[in-house]
Amino acid sequence: MERLPGLRDFYPEPLPHTDVWSADARQYIFDKWRTTAKRYGFREYDGPPLEPLELFTTKSGAEIVGQLYNFEDKGGRQISLRPEMTPTLARMVAAHERNYKKPIKWFAIPQLFRYEKQQKGRLREHFQFNADLIGETDPAADAELIALVIDTLRAFGLTHEDFVIRLSSRNAWQDFYQAGGGELAHEYAFFQIIDKLERASPEESETKLAALGFSVAAVNAFIEAGKPTAELESILNNLAARGLREFIKIDYQVIRGLAYYTGVVFEAFDRKGEFRAIAGGGRYNNLVKLISGGKVDLAALGFGMGDVVLLELLKARGLMPKFDSPMDVFVVIEDEALRNISLKMVHDLRAANFAVEYPLTPAKADKQLKRAQELKVRFTVRAENDAYVRIRNAKTRDEVVTGIAGVANHLS
Ligand code: HAM
Repeated sequence: MERLPGLRDFYPEPLPHTDVWSADARQYIFDKWRTTAKRYGFREYDGPPLEPLELFTTKSGAEIVGQLYNFEDKGGRQISLRPEMTPTLARMVAAHERNYKKPIKWFAIPQLFRYEKQQKGRLREHFQFNADLIGETDPAADAELIALVIDTLRAFGLTHEDFVIRLSSRNAWQDFYQAGGGELAHEYAFFQIIDKLERASPEESETKLAALGFSVAAVNAFIEAGKPTAELESILNNLAARGLREFIKIDYQVIRGLAYYTGVVFEAFDRKGEFRAIAGGGRYNNLVKLISGGKVDLAALGFGMGDVVLLELLKARGLMPKFDSPMDVFVVIEDEALRNISLKMVHDLRAANFAVEYPLTPAKADKQLKRAQELKVRFTVRAENDAYVRIRNAKTRDEVVTGIAGVANHLS
């Protein structure tokens, strides 16, 4: 049986094949995401991987809707696997926001599914670190969130020479669009043309822009001027106070594809421009209201950082550690008459928080020692009789004999 295209198998290292992913690397990434989010005061939440199709169809925008993994369930409901977390978060917050003090600072690490063409940095499934801040309109919140993106990437050993945050604003584009006589009804279509500018041919962009009364030249002049709005200026000052200014570049080329963004938007990219976006996010001040049918109105902003591009970048910069099995102790059972006593010792050592391995079935002593070596354990322990054990330090090769009750103490 073959795996579905664009989905991944995660194996423990050392990896058996180049076509599979490392479960150890995944855990390493999740741990860093969690610890950084907690340092910033974000609490973890989660939602269901399946949602009503409707949650995504009107809220996310055409591109994501075209990529939904959707189906009808046995109860005749229209269902979709989640392609992103933000609509779920908006639904959850709207349902119970009164129980939480504002601003709400939450994070999650959902697995997301998008039926898109598999390519470098893009799969049909990925894990995405989401951090969102709800109930604060001040740009200080935007700066706090961007600082979290920066510190998350720094936690992996990346520096300002490796990545940059391209900071932009839909408000700035909105002003540009309205000043140029653009109609409100076509504003999102205009945003989508800007979003595709880097990837589309100039002719294609020119035709589409002309239909809305704009030109590539005017759009490019606006991007090149790159004059920060007062709001962006305030974010830049906030980040400069933290010593993080060098990580930011004002870049109006970034506008984000998703429909719900309302203000500041940003994306993290590797400096050399070799990879796709590492992270992206922004303000979505109307989404909670839209999803709650007008019942709850809360400003919000957040970002998503995927594991796929991040891992590609970390590997390219030589920043991924090697992963071994983290075993502390191997209990050797040479004399089967001592198996029960040894089992009790294995159990007690595990209860004392040691990672312990032992032979499940009778085996020759040299075979057991070879296994202990492969596992790179720090100690081997062997019952000599029903009262005493011999402990050997694998590195120094020092040996001691101690009473069976004192093994855990001795090891620690
Ligand atoms: P997004 O830009 O669609 O934003 O995704 C965020 C990040 O997830 C991307 O920069 C990329 O690293 C990763 N990503 C997205 N799609 C794929 C894929 N098919 N394969 C691998 N990685 C992928 C959002 O999803 C927003 N909901 C983020 C957000 C949270 N905005 C506010 N709060």
